[in-house]
Amino acid sequence: MKWNHHSRKQIRGRRIWGWGWIHFLTALALMLCWPASILAQTVSAPAEKGNAASASAPRGPVEEKADSLLRQMTLEEKVAQLSQLPGFAIPEYKENVSQTLEETIRQVGAGSVLWVTDPKEINRLQHVAVERSRLHIPILFGLDVIHGYHTIFPAPIAMASSWDPKLVEQAQAVAAQEARAAGIQWTFAPMVDIARDARWGRMVEGAGEDPYLGAAMAHAQVLGFQGAQVGSPDHVLACVKHFAGYGAAEGGRDYDSSYIPEEQLWNVYLPPFKAALDAGAGSVMSAYMDLNDVPASGNRWLLHEVLRESWKFNGFVVSDAVAVRNLVTHGYATDLQDATDKAFSAGLNMDMASGTYLKYLPAEVRAGRVSVQQIDEAVRPILAMKIRLGLFERPYIDESAIDRVLNAPQHQEAARKAVERSVVLLRNENALLPLDKSGKTIHSIAVIGPLADADIDLLSMWGALVKPGPTVSILEGVKNKVGPNIRVSYAHGPNIRRDIPSPFEDIPISPMKEQAAQSPEEIQQATAAAVEVAQRSDLAVLVLGEIGLMSAESASRAWLRLSGHQEELLQEVVATGKPVVLVLINGRPLDISWAAANVPAILEAWYPGSQGGSGIADLLFGDENPGGHLPVSWPRSTGQVPIYYSHNLTQLPETSPDFKSRYWDILSTPLFPFGYGLSYTSFSFSNLTVTPASRVGDPIEVSAEVANNGKRAGDAVVQLYIHQRAGSASRPVRQLKGFDRVALEAGEKRTIHFKLGKDELKFWSPASKTWVVEPKQFDVWVGGDSNATLHGEFRLTE
Ligand code: NOJ
Repeated sequence: MKWNHHSRKQIRGRRIWGWGWIHFLTALALMLCWPASILAQTVSAPAEKGNAASASAPRGPVEEKADSLLRQMTLEEKVAQLSQLPGFAIPEYKENVSQTLEETIRQVGAGSVLWVTDPKEINRLQHVAVERSRLHIPILFGLDVIHGYHTIFPAPIAMASSWDPKLVEQAQAVAAQEARAAGIQWTFAPMVDIARDARWGRMVEGAGEDPYLGAAMAHAQVLGFQGAQVGSPDHVLACVKHFAGYGAAEGGRDYDSSYIPEEQLWNVYLPPFKAALDAGAGSVMSAYMDLNDVPASGNRWLLHEVLRESWKFNGFVVSDAVAVRNLVTHGYATDLQDATDKAFSAGLNMDMASGTYLKYLPAEVRAGRVSVQQIDEAVRPILAMKIRLGLFERPYIDESAIDRVLNAPQHQEAARKAVERSVVLLRNENALLPLDKSGKTIHSIAVIGPLADADIDLLSMWGALVKPGPTVSILEGVKNKVGPNIRVSYAHGPNIRRDIPSPFEDIPISPMKEQAAQSPEEIQQATAAAVEVAQRSDLAVLVLGEIGLMSAESASRAWLRLSGHQEELLQEVVATGKPVVLVLINGRPLDISWAAANVPAILEAWYPGSQGGSGIADLLFGDENPGGHLPVSWPRSTGQVPIYYSHNLTQLPETSPDFKSRYWDILSTPLFPFGYGLSYTSFSFSNLTVTPASRVGDPIEVSAEVANNGKRAGDAVVQLYIHQRAGSASRPVRQLKGFDRVALEAGEKRTIHFKLGKDELKFWSPASKTWVVEPKQFDVWVGGDSNATLHGEFRLTE
């Protein structure tokens, strides 16, 4: 069975022959000459599972209630439901809408309002909608609750480093509970964009480079946000974004075009979206950029053929902020009327923040280009979500109950545990870590660096833009941990700043600030003061990296080095001869080649959130054992990006004798491989067993033993990779197809079992333009990172 976007499409009463039809012809031609053995193995994975929303609700009482509202609504009221109004008027919106937010809500209502974080204001606006608009339809309040609302969890790239989907689900359930209590019913998360180029600042918001890990994290996040289904109490509606291909921006420049061949879309970029929809995500956000020359927010192939026809999605799609208007900027739409036409006919339900639908969509209907029935179809899923979320019964929040929810002590405990599980130990020469906190061996510690006493910067951008509670800095965490046993001194070192400031510094809800510019003398004095503090201490903990605004939206970089004068600071402190522990705060891999050769201990802490300082101190002093593993390949230098482990073999791979695909000035391998992470104990892998052969369709069973060879308990992340040796397309050298984070006592051994079924063995073949499982020979490896050496093989037969 082929996935079903190959049929003719009916748009606005005209027959349109979409790309799908061309694919159909190509596929048909190929099918006629393709060996039957492969054809017989094609599978229909994209269309085989509907999302939970579609499964639970084709035409029940919810839709009936939505229809009864639709029957009473004027065209303008319907269009208002297709509009998301900004909580503070941005220029793009003001170009289209002159009324105040309150006037618009009173006159026609609003589908949604975003960027309002004050619960009182949320209640006030909701009162206007429910009591003063004609049909009393409540507003859906949306916000970027990406990794916490008040209790800020580690940033998504850090949460992915935990390789612990259950932890991720629990964290997002806390975020949902806090947000919902404060009046937010819809989060613009999870962000599931695959990112393989660390220059792109938004790598921090996703789960890294890999579709399998990304899908697991996407699925877990949706369950956390929404609960078992949309409308679960104390949960919010999820919005999976940015559909699709945003992470492949050319040159890592945010918002730039993505060119992604169809096989890469299906095999790499789309699986996390599908996983989020399988978990029941009720809404999708279209991306900003051009995908293969068609902006994602006006891309009918993405929004209609993939999303609705193949995947049977029946929730709703919102654009990214002002993306409908920007169809004109892209050079895709002639003017805003045309932008409205293109976005709406592509399948975009809701216009975020540009007011373009509000102003131009009614005219589309009056001109006969859009039918009232099409408008109703676009509005229905939005009303249906409001009904499912219980907004008609409970539109307001109890302001007196908010503090109790936000300050629940178990939320902080969950955040601290998340830090402990997400930090990655990159290097630990001569077991420098963990440090002795008793005061018997270490009497003084210098905590140094422009991020050592940072609070808001530990939250990353979205964590700072919501309603964050207090944050424990690393300096504070260390002091709390060692108490009076060890003298702790602090030096800030030179400031760090972006060369070009972030636009997010100045938006009304932003508490973030750049560090001040400094003269050469000030930089030199700050460095000297830090060196002096290190000299009079037994050991230095350096906290370096990027302030929150350096790894975020609109935060691309051409160089991945430690910015400003951090590298010099590091080198001068190391030159004192004191043992140095480097703690990195950042949202993407940085060029730390010098540090990796000269600094004995390195902990990658990402943006660790509210409990950052406490969780990091737990790890530094051995109360917890690091078990995080990298969700990205860590480059040696910027020149290596994009870099990812799951690349194809070339005709002359790196292992060939002379001509080979590598650089002559640097190794082509990463500094640290995907999946890598150390522990204070060590693990070994042995006794691999593999079902030697199975018929296509029957699973392959794999097991391996993992042993904790050290003297302390710790977590291993057991990873399984496969490689299909030949087939209808070149296949990547390795692909992650299973993982399990296991806690092992000192000396404990455990056998871990994996099953490779159709979902793990299939791929989308460019030859047949379908999902296939091919009767071929495969390699399999099990180990602690993507360089795992414990090897076996199996064969799939017809
Ligand atoms: C733009 C960002 O790209 C998107 O991720 C976010 O959800 C919206 N703004 C709303 O803040």
